[in-house]
Amino acid sequence: MMSILRGKNILLGITAGIAAYKTASLVRLFVKAGANVKVIMTPASKDFITPLTLSTLSKNPVISSFINEDDENAVWNNHVELGLWADLFLIAPATANTMSKMATGTSDNMLLATYLSAKCPVYFAPAMDLDMYKHKTTNNSIKKLESFGNILIPATSGELASGLVGEGRMAEPEDIISFIENDIVKSLPLHGKSVLITAGPTYEAIDPVRFIGNHSSGKMGFELAKSAASLGAKVTLVSGPTHQKADSTLITIIPVVSAGKMYDEVHKYFKNTDIAILSAAVADYKPKITATQKIKKKDSTLTLELEKTKDILASLGQIKKNQILVGFALETNNELENAIGKLKKKNLDLIVLNSLNDDGAGFGVATNKVTIIDKNENSINYGLKSKAEVAQDIMQEILKQLHA
Ligand code: CTP
Repeated sequence: MMSILRGKNILLGITAGIAAYKTASLVRLFVKAGANVKVIMTPASKDFITPLTLSTLSKNPVISSFINEDDENAVWNNHVELGLWADLFLIAPATANTMSKMATGTSDNMLLATYLSAKCPVYFAPAMDLDMYKHKTTNNSIKKLESFGNILIPATSGELASGLVGEGRMAEPEDIISFIENDIVKSLPLHGKSVLITAGPTYEAIDPVRFIGNHSSGKMGFELAKSAASLGAKVTLVSGPTHQKADSTLITIIPVVSAGKMYDEVHKYFKNTDIAILSAAVADYKPKITATQKIKKKDSTLTLELEKTKDILASLGQIKKNQILVGFALETNNELENAIGKLKKKNLDLIVLNSLNDDGAGFGVATNKVTIIDKNENSINYGLKSKAEVAQDIMQEILKQLHA
């Protein structure tokens, strides 16, 4: 399952506590989650775990002094650059000594100087013996760090290196990772929101072996689902037949085949939805009668009678309350006018216009070129982009609607 930490730049600061031995698994878990990891160690922490282990696991050189000792030209390790590189800085284990220095602004090693330069969220996971953890001074440092906006990952209770039993154990690496993941998800703009998306083509059965379908790949809808999930939303993705995949705990895929089934599933979820984005290429017509047996070839021509499918998007426009409703329009002429017409007729908040006149837009290609139009007929033209980028643009416009 895709972690929210994927692609994130994580700076791990290690200080001199026995729990430092656990940072090998911590680095491993971050890397496994798809994060980029750089490690900074205080000089004394090297007595507890070797930089070689950590550089091997993190696939990056470990930094522990202001100058790069391996380089004969003695290049400075730039703490400002490191601080800016990081999406988040985790100090684990955080000793009483380091926390006290962080609280007072001491910067007598590379880790502390980087802490003072970092603009990203800073997490710290204390680890020490129980009496040190209980000490008022330690408590003061922790409170002060929290008042600066740094995020405490509390120590747990258990057997300590001293042999004593009590509070002061560093949280387990797995728990540190889930703590950070949950914390990030909570702060995302669509956290707590439900998004309903339709994707792909529909197949309308002619007989048991034949159908009317279209060339939609489902890619646009799946990219929208991924983008919404990366913003913290819980996504229900009702999809026609497709080869696309979406590997996220936040995305539930409801596979359907026909327009009728898509209509039913969408209506099941719409009531509890905050945002609905209908990107499926739904068949507008289906065979009036589906033959129960395979149709045999007989005459030189065969006429199929077709009837209209129900317009899912329009039906949602009629019943919507506070939901933000987004539709797509694929046009070949009078594009803007037609798209605005559909937006009004179907009672939408936004419509995404694809023009078939644009190269690289529409079905079966990896790219798309869209215009997004809102209820007040404001339109924004975007350039040719990957469908993943187009999905992000659409989600940004939806965020604006949410806060309007
Ligand atoms: N749509 C839908 N259910 C249908 C048909 C379309 O939900 N039965 C949705 C699509 O997912 C898309 C939008 O409506 O968001 C596309 O409408 P489109 O097919 O372009 O326009 P129509 O209203 O069907 O008009 P026309 O085909 O005549 O252009």
